[in-house]
Amino acid sequence: MEAAALSLLLLLNSVDSGSARVSLTVSPKRSQFFKYDSFSVSCEEEEQSEEEEQLSGWRVMKRTKDGEVRPCPAPCSITAAFPATDSGAYWCEAGPGRASSTVNVSVTAGSVVLESPVRPVTEGDNVTLVCVCRLSRCRGGVPADFYRDGLLVRNSSSGVTTVLGVSKADEGLYRCEVSGAGVSPESRLTVTAPPAGPAAPHPPPPLLSVSFLVRHLVVAAPYLLSTILLGLVYRSRAREQKSSTATGPSNDVIMEISP
Ligand SMILES: *[C@@H]1O[C@H](CO)[C@@H](O)[C@H](O)[C@H]1NC(C)=O
Repeated sequence: MEAAALSLLLLLNSVDSGSARVSLTVSPKRSQFFKYDSFSVSCEEEEQSEEEEQLSGWRVMKRTKDGEVRPCPAPCSITAAFPATDSGAYWCEAGPGRASSTVNVSVTAGSVVLESPVRPVTEGDNVTLVCVCRLSRCRGGVPADFYRDGLLVRNSSSGVTTVLGVSKADEGLYRCEVSGAGVSPESRLTVTAPPAGPAAPHPPPPLLSVSFLVRHLVVAAPYLLSTILLGLVYRSRAREQKSSTATGPSNDVIMEISP
């Protein structure tokens, strides 16, 4: 019985930690799109980022520029994106206090977008930035300038540039410009520190959250109660037997149990 209770606790634990690391995925993996492009948004467990399965209980939320917040019903597929209604912040949510980090998506009516990592990158990674221009004269690649926080940081004759071994100093709001074609919207590049040690790739889930305590108490309560009840029943039975043998007048019993 105690083993069953323990395994139930362990099971709940694994559910708890499994759902704690959910992230929002944009497909294709970009945060800037042209008007009338199609893209889809889903919630995935970070450990299984290759799986396209939508997590149950989690839903995609969207806040547009005018501040309006509404869910994007699964599957959150946007066909023919529109700047005013599909630009904004997207995140995954599963009730109060359970939300993923936010991804900002820009849909532009212009002719230039910047392809940059949607999720934070790790210090030391190589990051490729692509300036995409949809005018026919851009076909095959055109020179582009890349700006970080408004300052020109790179230019590339092909519209593609790779930042080797990014550091915190590379963080910022990026945009690119193709001369004569226009400027892309801005997207934030976030650089995070590498994991502290090779032995600890995932920090343990917080142990003392309220939901954790409540769930464990609710599961443990029936086992505790039944254990106490059983104990009481055994004790009263034992007492009854004792008193019946003590007060029992039979000599036969005494003879039988003495060697
Ligand atoms: C998303 O956009 C909002 C408002 O423009 C900004 O405050 C926030 O920092 C952005 N978040 C990311 C991850 O870029």
